[in-house]
Amino acid sequence: MALAVPYPRSFHRMKVRDLPEILQIEQEAYRQCWTEQIFRDCMKVGYDGWVLQEGREIVGYGIVAIAVGEAHLLNLCVSPAHQGRGFGRALLDYLIDWSIQCGAGAMFLEVRVSNTRAQSLYRSCGFTLIGERPGYYPADPPVIREDAWVFRLDLS
Ligand SMILES: CC(C)(COP(=O)(O)OP(=O)(O)OC[C@H]1O[C@@H](n2cnc3c(N)ncnc32)[C@H](O)[C@@H]1OP(=O)(O)O)[C@@H](O)C(=O)NCCC(=O)NCCS
Repeated sequence: MALAVPYPRSFHRMKVRDLPEILQIEQEAYRQCWTEQIFRDCMKVGYDGWVLQEGREIVGYGIVAIAVGEAHLLNLCVSPAHQGRGFGRALLDYLIDWSIQCGAGAMFLEVRVSNTRAQSLYRSCGFTLIGERPGYYPADPPVIREDAWVFRLDLS
């Protein structure tokens, strides 16, 4: 029996032409998702967006803002159809390596208190909980706002 050959995985910098596929994933993955304008603004101000492909299909992406020795992870997302296959970890590892190459000594991120799946990924990569931002995220009624936890990873 012939074995299926897995499609190769590759990373590239986020480009405007990736946005239709990215927006589709964003809408499928989040209840409160980013708009196209937010992605465009991130690219315009020079934040580092990276896209992970399997074969020709975009399976995930992440955006990190790096300044004055600190990296801030703004978005990390894997297509729901491909979650649980190691892509989230691969993207996060890539963004951590990239931030180190860019001279960052620490990475910070916010995550919803209800997002235990992402928290478990961050903790397993060495992030530690350092604070809380009350009402940081929009939420569905009747809650209206949801708190964020702030995590930090030492990159030095
Ligand atoms: C969070 C997210 C990026 C993880 O990506 P993923 O490709 O599904 O994750 P991976 O397959 O790489 O798994 C990495 C780790 O995540 C955690 N994880 C993955 N699936 C999980 C699940 N169903 N339940 C709990 N933890 C889970 C585990 O710690 C896992 O490590 P392990 O496989 O060694 O146990 C992805 O679920 C996602 O895009 N979610 C929607 C968007 C989002 O919430 N982004 C984070 C915003 S802060």
